[in-house]
Amino acid sequence: MGKKAVKPRLIAFEVTRRCQFSCRHCRANAVASVEEELTTNQCKKILKSVAKYKKCVLILTGGEPMEREDIYELIRYGREIGLRMVMATCGYLINEKTILKLKKAGIMALSFSIDGTGADTHDKFRGTEGAFDSAVNAAKIAREAHVRFQINTTLSKININEVIGIADLTRELGAYCFNPFILVPTGRGEEIKDAVLDPVEYEVLLNELLRIKLKQKIKVRVTCGPQFARVCKQAKAKGLMEEVTGCMGGRGFGFISCRGDVQTCGFLDVSAGNLIENNFNFGEIWEKSKFLNEIRNVSDYKGDCGNCEYVGICGGCRARAYATSGDYLGQDPVCNYKRRDKA
Ligand SMILES: C[S@@+](CC[C@H](N)C(=O)[O-])C[C@H]1O[C@@H](n2cnc3c(N)ncnc32)[C@H](O)[C@@H]1O
Ligand code: SF4
Ligand code: SF4
Repeated sequence: MGKKAVKPRLIAFEVTRRCQFSCRHCRANAVASVEEELTTNQCKKILKSVAKYKKCVLILTGGEPMEREDIYELIRYGREIGLRMVMATCGYLINEKTILKLKKAGIMALSFSIDGTGADTHDKFRGTEGAFDSAVNAAKIAREAHVRFQINTTLSKININEVIGIADLTRELGAYCFNPFILVPTGRGEEIKDAVLDPVEYEVLLNELLRIKLKQKIKVRVTCGPQFARVCKQAKAKGLMEEVTGCMGGRGFGFISCRGDVQTCGFLDVSAGNLIENNFNFGEIWEKSKFLNEIRNVSDYKGDCGNCEYVGICGGCRARAYATSGDYLGQDPVCNYKRRDKA
């Protein structure tokens, strides 16, 4: 984790804030209809501005990206200009017809969200009856159509006791990766801030995720949980070969909002600059933004993170620090680690 801007490997682009679900945790505050969103032309210019700077993996996200009628056109265009197009969806618009259209347009992988081992937990969390069945069905359809997919699961006090079951379900469905997200109390997530894991629960969870990863049957990646990099480093002796990275926001990863704002990630709602206002020059914002350069400079982090010898590989979740203290350079409140050789 250096100070200098490196070109991103992954950019998530929030193409809409429309969604038929009303999940309790939704960072995007997604709703069924919105008055305005980026036009097809603006979306294409944004894709072009990214591709000109770096031909990276481009995650279409939202809201529910499948709500956009032009989603296939955007995927096709992204592929034509050299981006590797993937999409995050909760699956209710995936069926035998739409999966073939996605494939034809050039989609390279999908993610589906599953937050419980059954409808009981998932549907309540997602505010929609039938949500669990539609996500499982979408995964089966993707598998049948030979489209690679991963499962995203937002973990909090609400479902932490189901994590092993969800990992098993992920494997049974044929996903290539299990990707837990750790709840960030932002957007609608602020209303369930009491469900954010406490440091001890979180440490136990990270070690459980490491055990699942070590079984080697499925890839495990963690989002909004950079302390997983610390736990993996501490457990190096247990036979983990792979290097696990911490928070990549503003480094290998970036986010473009539904207004064209460039951000570190979708969970930290601070703009580094607006692509429409700067005539679609992504590289300029990415390299010159004062905010992004502050985030890249871990030596200015405060509290336990500022004091921590793992800060260079972990970084703490800047979004959770901001959501809880208003300071994006502050400490991540869910971390249980305290440096022992310093006061
Ligand atoms: C914003 S959604 C967009 C894609 C799609 N609508 C979905 O739900 O999968 C992307 C991922 O972020 C997760 N997510 C949303 N709000 C979150 C929050 N406050 N904390 C952690 N993860 C969150 C969702 O559960 C989902 O897996
Ligand atoms: S988390 Fe995804 S599915 Fe849920 S309301 Fe937000 S955008 Fe929709
Ligand atoms: S104190 Fe901060 S930098 Fe250190 S492990 Fe915890 S979150 Fe990461």
